[in-house]
Amino acid sequence: MNLLFCDTAERALADSQLHNIVKMAYLDPPYNTGRKFNQYSDSSPLKDWLAMLERTLTGVRETLMEDGSIFVHLDDRYIHRVRCIMDDVFGDRNYVGTMIWEKKNRGSFLHAHLADVTDHILIYAKDKSKMAPLVHSSTEVGKRIPIHNKGNKPSVLEFPAGSMTFNFSDRTIPAGEMNTPTIDSDLLDDLIVENGTNKNAFRMSGPFRYGQDAVNKMAETPGAFICPRQMLRPSYVSQESRGKVLTNLQSFRVNGSPTNEDARAESEAIFGAEMGASFDTPKPEALLERLIAAATEPGDTVLDCFAGSGTTLAVAQKLGRNWVGVELNPDTITSYIGPRIDGILAGTDPLPMDGYTPSTNTYAIHTGVTEMAA
Ligand SMILES: C[S@@+](CC[C@H](N)C(=O)[O-])C[C@H]1O[C@@H](n2cnc3c(N)ncnc32)[C@H](O)[C@@H]1O
Repeated sequence: MNLLFCDTAERALADSQLHNIVKMAYLDPPYNTGRKFNQYSDSSPLKDWLAMLERTLTGVRETLMEDGSIFVHLDDRYIHRVRCIMDDVFGDRNYVGTMIWEKKNRGSFLHAHLADVTDHILIYAKDKSKMAPLVHSSTEVGKRIPIHNKGNKPSVLEFPAGSMTFNFSDRTIPAGEMNTPTIDSDLLDDLIVENGTNKNAFRMSGPFRYGQDAVNKMAETPGAFICPRQMLRPSYVSQESRGKVLTNLQSFRVNGSPTNEDARAESEAIFGAEMGASFDTPKPEALLERLIAAATEPGDTVLDCFAGSGTTLAVAQKLGRNWVGVELNPDTITSYIGPRIDGILAGTDPLPMDGYTPSTNTYAIHTGVTEMAA
């Protein structure tokens, strides 16, 4: 059963049932912008705001498992102050990195001196030596990856007999140049194509993406390489989904990361135009998907103790993770988080996520001492 606390983060986190159960915490707290949003006031004396964050971060540390991690989302105003607090609470040896998220396509004319188009996500481990790399799956099974890679140092590779399939009729291709305008590559042995595969082992020279050891390993699967044309430009056909470590730049230009505009459109799709537009600070689901998928496995528990419209909790639910949420404003729980999770449980969520099995776990709301099952 997932848990949703209607309380301050620091009070909720003192609940000992939350200790050592969280694999990943994502916090998107008020940034102390001095603004008054529809749902909450974002203005506190700096000292009070920093003290509240320090108490909350200390509480989050108690909830983390030994291999757990925490992501704190902020703008650049006070990130240096919060990083110092996190160095104290988590230890600077457990600093993992700072992710930069490009939140806007362009700066606003309202920015007087420097247009601000990025937010920052501070990442710490409870114990970095136990934390797994932040890997997201990027290579699907069956994806073709060209063997040649322009710019790499030329080398010679040998392809074992039977390791390549050819999409043209059987023939013998004599050794010789296989140059294109951009890549120089030679076939060093005559190649006999019989029954759609290479009858003999053959060598090629060129700028290759892989070394011989990797090619030998890939060639253990017959037909691991495919060559569609007689101009030999083979590709490796990926046999497994392989992970890539997340980069610290999440950008719509570089890796298709969603922006605040996407988050607003999602809110309107989920809550309707009026309600969606009136929640001021939602984050996009695909950003949370990237982070949660990289930091947790299905069945792990995700914590968001400034839950807002419930983006983290909704994505955790859709990715088959358990979750604990905390939100101070009861109206935000009844108007946003509750309906959003209920929609996922009822199968009416307008933004289902491909490739995951959603959790069917329901949730209980804790309001101080009373508890109400959903
Ligand atoms: C920036 S918003 C979070 C937005 C959220 N990530 C989303 O995608 O909708 C911060 C939220 O924290 C809540 N909040 C403010 N102070 C809090 C506190 N001390 N404890 C728990 N929640 C708090 C606010 O009501 C607001 O909903």
